[in-house]
Amino acid sequence: MVKVIFDGDYGIDDALATLFLAGRADVELLAVGTVHGNARADAAAANALQVLDIAGRRDIPVAVGALRPLAQPLEVSALVHGEDGLGGQAHAVPELRREPVSAAEQLVRIVRERPGECTVVATGPLTNLAVALLLEPRLPELVRNVVVMGGTTREPGNISPLAEANIWHDPEAAALVFGAGWSLTLVGLDVTMHTWLDQSDVDRIASAPGRVAEFAHSILRHYLTFYRGRHDRPGCPLHDPSAAVLAVRPDLARYKKVPVQVELRGAQTRGMLVVDRREFSGRDGPLIDVATEIDRDRLVAEFLSGLLGP
Ligand code: BDR
Ligand code: CA
Repeated sequence: MVKVIFDGDYGIDDALATLFLAGRADVELLAVGTVHGNARADAAAANALQVLDIAGRRDIPVAVGALRPLAQPLEVSALVHGEDGLGGQAHAVPELRREPVSAAEQLVRIVRERPGECTVVATGPLTNLAVALLLEPRLPELVRNVVVMGGTTREPGNISPLAEANIWHDPEAAALVFGAGWSLTLVGLDVTMHTWLDQSDVDRIASAPGRVAEFAHSILRHYLTFYRGRHDRPGCPLHDPSAAVLAVRPDLARYKKVPVQVELRGAQTRGMLVVDRREFSGRDGPLIDVATEIDRDRLVAEFLSGLLGP
């Protein structure tokens, strides 16, 4: 059983990742934290509660996290996921309440209670994880591993020429998290741009029965329209669901252990990742498992079976 604490900015693919995790029999989803990024962190919490309600998991606590990045002004990316983060499908469930603590405090409390047991899956900017590291310096020992959707080392950036959105939204937080010396897997655009959900997969979701499939298809509409305008191939990449699937099935990708630094100063390059691939010792910084290749067909099959049932 994989015990997961999920931290996301509740755009469309964060919602799909949550539905996948909530639907897996081998995952115990312990808690959700929300962060700024695709939406404001408080709006993201309303989205998370709606998604968990649709998944039939009102029992999972949701805590609002960082309302802004550590060292730059807040910027919400409404273009990709719509003004509400869910492609126009956000509907608050008024009777559902957020936890009275922040996402970082919730994370620290849970891993103190279960030292060495929990996997953190982070699919938004890394502000909450950075704050949690400041609150609890022993966090790297208390967490089993961290799986981050973010960054790119070979593919172009998606929010600036060289930066991926989750890192760009809070580069200082990413630098803290990458430098913390814990077991960390980075699932970036290098692989997620190769986990394309094709039209036939979308049709399968559209024709599946039940509330989860109906909702997943409704939020995918906006996402598919966004990607149709940008890529020749119909469909969309599975950014956040790839991190969620690899948290459960790490064997579906290959990884390279490398030190990764975040560029913090460049006028054109802020938020890009600098990977030291030199093959000699003495490289700076902790090593991170960067996903370099992915088994797209098996990953999509795993994702659909979590989402729609086996
Ligand atoms: C990442 O940015 C967000 O828009 C998505 O939800 C995903 O986490 C992809 O770059
Ligand atoms: Ca996200």
